[in-house]
Amino acid sequence: MPLVSMKELLIEAEKNGYAVGAFNINNLEFFQSVMSAAEEENSPVIIAVSEGGMNYAGVEFIEAIVKTGIEKYRVPFALHLDHGKKLKSILQAIRFGFTSVMVDASDRPIEENIRITRKVVELAKPLDITVEAELGRLLGKEEEIESSEAIYTDPEDALKFIQETECDALAIACGTSHGAYKFQGEPKLDIQRIRKIKELIGIPLVLHGASGVSQAMVQEATALGFQLKGAKGVPDSEIKEAIKAGIRKINIDTDLRISFLIGFQKVFRESPSEIDPRAHLKEAKLRVKEKVKEKIRLFNSHI
Ligand code: G3H
Ligand code: 13P
Ligand code: ZN
Repeated sequence: MPLVSMKELLIEAEKNGYAVGAFNINNLEFFQSVMSAAEEENSPVIIAVSEGGMNYAGVEFIEAIVKTGIEKYRVPFALHLDHGKKLKSILQAIRFGFTSVMVDASDRPIEENIRITRKVVELAKPLDITVEAELGRLLGKEEEIESSEAIYTDPEDALKFIQETECDALAIACGTSHGAYKFQGEPKLDIQRIRKIKELIGIPLVLHGASGVSQAMVQEATALGFQLKGAKGVPDSEIKEAIKAGIRKINIDTDLRISFLIGFQKVFRESPSEIDPRAHLKEAKLRVKEKVKEKIRLFNSHI
């Protein structure tokens, strides 16, 4: 039975010093692409579904797609709610078989964040559902909330937070942000901060906003008509350092979105008379699969 709790995957990652990729999916195509990549690379993966993803597909469809995957795939995977801001979504995820939830109250003052997170831990833990929480703020767009400045996670606050909430994994702010525009200047993470937090708290650390948005990908997308001027992500070298410093779960969405659209648009541009969308989707899926494989190799999560 490959659908496992996220905690199980992160314990293995901790033992072996790698990070597990959490890849956002919103439909069958993305799910199949991520899982095929995981199978080909022999790696665990975390299937992440945001509140937006649940609303887009309908949580019961997500459940059906994922349950079908349990029969089809060999590698272990977790089904995880990404950025659960509403208690309603967290309860829905639990009801529909998710093995992990993120409670994201990172926009609240720390005491309120602790209180909300603690409540979710009390709900989820008896059901063996993993709880990820977030402390600190990421620059840029995080779901519907815009933060005007980056507020990095304070190590002492992180210690207090995990002692009082007993969450299983902690997302920290150390220089990344969501989306395709992460840095204006040199792309750098606060690796020293990751190391300090890791020294103080034993639980697995999570890096959100970790897409690479490589210049090769930006160029390819631009040639196909997308406007991505100034797009810049986290370099592979920084990801490697972050893993060395203690990051055990890495969230990727933007790289998959752009890969999918490149594949789709390429078929449209090269074969404008093609009106069977399966042709476009086939190439889009292939691009997503290749990108996930690239990430698995970078995170070194082979088993
Ligand atoms: O961090 C958020 C993920 O990229 C999901 O984004 O809320 O647009 O589905 P979404
Ligand atoms: P990216 O936008 O960098 O892919 O981050 C995704 C993410 O953090 C999902 O929670
Ligand atoms: Zn995120």
